[in-house]
Amino acid sequence: MLLKYKTVMVTGGASGIGRASVLMLAKEGARVLLADVNEAGASETIRLAGGASVEFLKLELTDGNSVDACAKEAIARAAGKLDVFVNAAGWDRTQPFIEADQAFLDKVLGINLLGPLRMTRALFAAMTQNGGGKIVFVASDAGRVGSLGETPYSAAKGGIIGFTKSLAREGARHKITVNCVCPGPTDTPLFHANPERMREALLRAIPFRRLAQPEDIAGAILYFAGPTSDYVTGQILSVSGGLTMAG
Ligand SMILES: NC(=O)c1ccc[n+]([C@@H]2O[C@H](COP(=O)([O-])OP(=O)(O)OC[C@H]3O[C@@H](n4cnc5c(N)ncnc54)[C@H](O)[C@@H]3O)[C@@H](O)[C@H]2O)c1
Repeated sequence: MLLKYKTVMVTGGASGIGRASVLMLAKEGARVLLADVNEAGASETIRLAGGASVEFLKLELTDGNSVDACAKEAIARAAGKLDVFVNAAGWDRTQPFIEADQAFLDKVLGINLLGPLRMTRALFAAMTQNGGGKIVFVASDAGRVGSLGETPYSAAKGGIIGFTKSLAREGARHKITVNCVCPGPTDTPLFHANPERMREALLRAIPFRRLAQPEDIAGAILYFAGPTSDYVTGQILSVSGGLTMAG
């Protein structure tokens, strides 16, 4: 087991990629702290974990006080020794940029960029005092190559990519690795909220001719969370069935 005796925090574990990650990390022996706004979904993840160590923490990423309280609770529950932080929570709705009102911009940037930065800041100090750790962000290929109708979301995810690379440099002296997984189109409720024409066009463009399953992405998250990536930091890995390729 790759993560025995490790305490791992995963945001967004109530659904999709986050849920698959919680289940995969727990199967590898980790004690998982699942932070999400959706308590019912989190309960279902805990049920699916079938007795593995998964605990729920309430989190609203658009609310700074909730982020701070959640980070504090995670550190307390981990008795100060939080080994891995996975930020998988995210949200978007497709629309032309000119139709995006301020409330939408605040929500997209709050959930996908500002909330994760605030959470990371709160957890980073605890990790430095523990002699190291691993941080894994889930961004999106939208942040690497752009995506029509997802302009603010792309800005947020591009921000996470830059944040990953810079924080990786700062983390190195503390033995903290920081990496980022960019999923391509993945079979989750978030993807299925897109218009059907957009979903069909994306599917046709994927060389593998299928959507990613959440487990395809969780496998890459497990790699960055576990010991086989100890010498890897500041990396952005697309998991997209060949839809996007690194230059
Ligand atoms: N599905 C895709 O095609 C796709 C593609 C690229 C990137 N991603 C990214 O993958 C990650 C996981 O997405 P998914 O597809 O599994 O989506 P999903 O909707 O299935 O899961 C997202 C999770 O984030 C949680 N969440 C949303 N808003 C929150 C908030 N304000 N506070 C706390 N938690 C909140 C939800 O409750 C849910 O559990 C996201 O960061 C998303 O941007 C997904």
